[in-house]
Amino acid sequence: MYRSHTCGELRASQIGETVTLAGWVAKARVMGSMAFVDIRDRYGVTQLAFNENYSKELLEKAATLGREFVIQAIGKVAERSAKNANMETGDIEIVVEELTILNESKTPPFTIETETDGGDDIRMQYRYLDLRRDVVRKNLEMRHNLAQSIRGYLSAQQFLEVETPVLIKSTPEGARDFVVPSRLNKGQWYALPQSPQTFKQLLMVSGFDRYFQIVKCFRDEDLRADRQPEFTQIDCEMSFVEREDIIQTFEGMMKQLFKDVKGIEFDAFPRMTYADAMKFYGSDKPDIRFGMPFVELKSPGGVDLTSGKGFVVFDNAEAVIGVCATGASGYTRKQIDALTDYVKRPQIGATGLIYCRVEADGSLKSSVDKFYDAEALLQWQKAMKAQPGDLMLILAGGLEKTRKQLNELRLLVGSELGLRNAGEFKPLWVVDFPLLEWDEDHNRFHAMHHPFTSPLPEDRNLMQSDPGQVRANAYDLVINGVEIGGGSIRIFDKKLQSEMFDLLGFTKEEAQYQFGFLMNAFEYGAPPHGGLALGFDRLCSMFGGSDSIRDFIAFPKNNSGRDVMIDAPSILSAAQLKDLEL
Ligand code: AMO
Repeated sequence: MYRSHTCGELRASQIGETVTLAGWVAKARVMGSMAFVDIRDRYGVTQLAFNENYSKELLEKAATLGREFVIQAIGKVAERSAKNANMETGDIEIVVEELTILNESKTPPFTIETETDGGDDIRMQYRYLDLRRDVVRKNLEMRHNLAQSIRGYLSAQQFLEVETPVLIKSTPEGARDFVVPSRLNKGQWYALPQSPQTFKQLLMVSGFDRYFQIVKCFRDEDLRADRQPEFTQIDCEMSFVEREDIIQTFEGMMKQLFKDVKGIEFDAFPRMTYADAMKFYGSDKPDIRFGMPFVELKSPGGVDLTSGKGFVVFDNAEAVIGVCATGASGYTRKQIDALTDYVKRPQIGATGLIYCRVEADGSLKSSVDKFYDAEALLQWQKAMKAQPGDLMLILAGGLEKTRKQLNELRLLVGSELGLRNAGEFKPLWVVDFPLLEWDEDHNRFHAMHHPFTSPLPEDRNLMQSDPGQVRANAYDLVINGVEIGGGSIRIFDKKLQSEMFDLLGFTKEEAQYQFGFLMNAFEYGAPPHGGLALGFDRLCSMFGGSDSIRDFIAFPKNNSGRDVMIDAPSILSAAQLKDLEL
């Protein structure tokens, strides 16, 4: 028996018991006639005590221990004279009677502590050591707990977890595929799934009724803090359902997760149409932890509170849109200049930023006083419901671009004003996305979600006459401005599906080649069905209050898509390439 207890479980009630512990040396302090060694495992840390009076030989052995040595200690649980309230086992120590070195360790390249001295690169290279650190391990423990809770909830609701293949034919989800050459089928390639989309729909045709899978997906896209080339989805599909059934089911699941893992209870999640999300927040994933909705001072076919005063920037703009930053009139010139520089960065691309302060006495002071008198500014103030002490920030230009730019500005100011607290959670369903989006470069439509998404029944008749206006029966779950998941009610009718492929510019042959298997399956009694997928890594980082999903993945890739620990991707040997005829 290597151990009788873990390093995290002994308490004062066990004083006097003889125990065996095994673990890693977290810290060793030798002080003349005494030594203290902290032994660590996944469950915690316990202090081992050595004393010259008890055994000189043991004390000498303790003095040879280095950090991260693997040891086993047998001894008696004793009350500590100097208790440590910061340690769960801080009331006791083990007076060691037998010490075995199970394995030695090189000195690790960084300290294995909550606050480590190791930079990102070195920790990724030695990820197995990084994973010994409390903080990282706790993230993975939380990930496990979430997965358990999800499996519990879905199983109780009759969902079956079914595995789908990883070597498949490419699924069109919008990103690039990772591909794998086939040795047995020369010149042909598998694709790794961007999601199990078509398989879960086939399972519905098979009558599985309720499917889920916690599944790896692969997308060859540019990486960001919330994107990895391989990531995990909680992928789900249901038969004989409408949008409301899906929303209720997964809102229920999310409520249970929040309750189980964070102890937070929610009422019904609010919903917002895509059109409103874009109009009021300039984003299809608004962060609604704070207000500051957009106010249009000028918009196509709408109000115009800015034209005709000689300010050409606003006169020439399709749209003039502002946000009211509550209590921010104290922003200094320097702070406003910094905001201006921010929106003028090429990534955002605004031409400038106009501001108007509402001073404490109610007077208005703007950067365009030359053009707009107090009466004109008062109209802006009224429209934006700005109060004394507030700061109005205004951008102008093309409608869509201005919305996107103002979204970035709103988020920045929200952060600066401390309105985006990681401990607060504001879920939101965004619904009624457009079915199609126009691709200027290729002069054709793309499916906004994917080609299997059905139109809203009331927009079905626009499919031929005005496809750009058709809304999809699709929904996204957004939490704190992060897209956590998305899904749709699917097309289950072969005729509608082929109409959709037509709209997307597929020839009959192309559609048959790529999706023949699905269209054929739809000829054998496909039930009405729909589903969604939640990004599991994103869900974990959201619950953990972090922006980076890497902290919640055991072995993540870096921003260039490399695993620096195993050094992948790597070159293949000539023999391997020959086998594959590459
Ligand atoms: P979608 O493409 O919206 O839908 O993906 C679902 C969710 O997966 C997460 N996600 C990612 N997480 C980390 N890294 C990535 N590269 C990444 N890409 C996506 C997001 C996203 O909301 N088959 C459909 C679902 C359906 O219709 O049922 C799909 O995959 O959180």
